[in-house]
Amino acid sequence: MSVKDIFTSDWHIQHPVWTAVDAYTISNLHPPSQPNSAALVYALKNSRDQGLPDIASYPVIGKFFALQCRALRVKHALELGTLGGYTSIWLASENPGLQVTTIEVNPHYRDVAQQNLEHAGVADRVDSRLGAGLDVLPVLGKEIAAGEKPRLGFVYIDADKKNNWNYLDQVIPMCDSGAVIFVDNIVAGGGLVDDAQLGDPMVSGAREVVENVGKDDRVEGMVLQTVGEKSYDGVLMVVVN
Ligand SMILES: C[S@@+](CC[C@H](N)C(=O)[O-])C[C@H]1O[C@@H](n2cnc3c(N)ncnc32)[C@H](O)[C@@H]1O
Repeated sequence: MSVKDIFTSDWHIQHPVWTAVDAYTISNLHPPSQPNSAALVYALKNSRDQGLPDIASYPVIGKFFALQCRALRVKHALELGTLGGYTSIWLASENPGLQVTTIEVNPHYRDVAQQNLEHAGVADRVDSRLGAGLDVLPVLGKEIAAGEKPRLGFVYIDADKKNNWNYLDQVIPMCDSGAVIFVDNIVAGGGLVDDAQLGDPMVSGAREVVENVGKDDRVEGMVLQTVGEKSYDGVLMVVVN
């Protein structure tokens, strides 16, 4: 059987079992009684009410990233692609000492994110920057080199997919040794291995970053396929040498 035979064109499938497993695990491991639960629900509702698309990371991934920051004792985390600030709220609210920098190109999204961050009580530790990632990163790089901000211990790349590799290439020199970088939407329902979809920047951007990481001595990487309440997808995890 070829990839073409088995590939699903709708990677935003919502299999009821995956959704049920997420609901079960979240209700046990992050119930509504947790201190940040109401702020996270508010962020999604306020974002939806103000017309933002429903493309935020889902709770399992948000908490997974927040726990990575905690386990690695990260001082400074970076997110490319803020949207309504949902993942930034996870990172900051689960890690009281953590500084987060997050970059968003859309002014309306950035304004809504600021509202959500303030409502969550983490705006003082989340530096929300407006601009294109490729314009803001060199500025941030200078600030880190000058010691105005700590080096990065965690990075989440989740913006325009065609620039996955450009973002990774630029952030590696800003990272501590041992820093962890995640790149989202790498598998895209299996599109990663479907040559017919190479015209889609999601797929070509995913292939470029996977293939370049494999040849780059500065890092080690692996892709983890995921299923969940939103889709069959996966992340590229990269560790800086
Ligand atoms: C999938 S959403 C991010 C979701 C967010 N990380 C979360 O978990 O809630 C992608 C975001 O990247 C932003 N974006 C697209 N191109 C960008 C660019 N060149 N620079 C910065 N942000 C960009 C989009 O406006 C959108 O808000």
